Amino acid sequence: MNDSQSANSSDLLIEQPDRPERQISRQLIIDAREIVAGYVEGVDILQGANLAVYEGELVTVIGSNGAGKSTFAKAIFGLVPVRSGQILFGDRNLVGLKPEQIVRLGISYVPQIANVFPSLSISDNLDMGAYTRDGNIKPLKDKIYDTFPVLAKRRSQRAGTLSGGERQMLAMGRAMMLEPKLLILDEPSAALSPILVQDIFNLIQTINQAGTSIILVEQNARKALAIADRGYVMHLGKDEFTGKGSDLLNDPEVAELYLGVGNFSKA
Ligand SMILES: Nc1ncnc2c1ncn2[C@@H]1O[C@H](COP(=O)(O)OP(=O)(O)O)[C@@H](O)[C@H]1O
Ligand SMILES: [Mg+2]
Repeated sequence: MNDSQSANSSDLLIEQPDRPERQISRQLIIDAREIVAGYVEGVDILQGANLAVYEGELVTVIGSNGAGKSTFAKAIFGLVPVRSGQILFGDRNLVGLKPEQIVRLGISYVPQIANVFPSLSISDNLDMGAYTRDGNIKPLKDKIYDTFPVLAKRRSQRAGTLSGGERQMLAMGRAMMLEPKLLILDEPSAALSPILVQDIFNLIQTINQAGTSIILVEQNARKALAIADRGYVMHLGKDEFTGKGSDLLNDPEVAELYLGVGNFSKA
C-alpha cells in the first residue's frame, strides 16, 4: 500500500477513469474521523476508525469477523456511544445524537439481522418505515414496489411469511421509505443463497444509481469491492487500508489477508 491509499484524508476523491459512468461529487456526505467507541466502559472496540463517503458514492467496509464493522455502522447511527472523534454529516456532528435524530437528518440504517414486523403486512411494514414523514407517501411506496417487485406481488401478505432474502428486501424497502441521503447496510447478503445475493447486490446498485449514497458493510468482500467506488478494510477497530474498490480487489496484501489467497488470480 502506498501513502495515497492511507485513510483519513478529506480530499480522498479518487477519479474513476475506468468507470466514466460514475459521477461522484467532491462533496463529502459523511466524514467519520478517528472514532473511538465501545459497548462497555474501558473497552474500546473502535480505536480511531475513519470513514468518508462522497455524495453519490457507494463505499464498502470489509474485514474479518470481529474487526468492528458492525460496531462502526452502529456508532455512526448513534447506537454505540462514541468516546472520541467526530462524525460530520453536512455541517452537523452526529456524535451524541440519538438514532431518531439521525434518521430525521436523512440517514437510514438496516442492521445485520433485518427486523421486520412479522404479524404486519408488507404494505404496513413499509408504512411504518415512513413514520417521520408527513403527507402522501403513496408515490414513494409505488416507487419502492417498482424497485422491489417481490414485495409488490405480496404486498398484503404478512411479513412473517417471507423468506430470509425477502425480509432483507423488505427491511431495505422500509429504510428507503425515508428517502435517505445516506443508507447504511450491514451485511445485507448474509445467509442468502447465491442467486439472492446477486439480486441484493443489483438492488444496492439500483438504489445507489438513483442518487442515494451507501455504506455497505460486507463479508462478501469480493462482490462488494466489485460494485463499490471505494472500500475500507477494517482490522482491530481501525481502517487498515482504503482505496478504489478495484484497486483493493487487486492489491496482493488485501487479497491475501482478506479475500482468500486461493481466489486471488480470479479477481
Ligand atoms: N453488543 C455488544 N456488546 C459487547 N461487545 C460487542 C457487542 N457487539 C459486538 N461486540 C464486540 O465488538 C467487536 C467487534 O464486533 P463487530 O463490530 O460485530 O465486528 P464485525 O461486524 O466486523 O464482525 C467484537 O470483539 C465483538 O465481540
Ligand atoms: Mg458485523
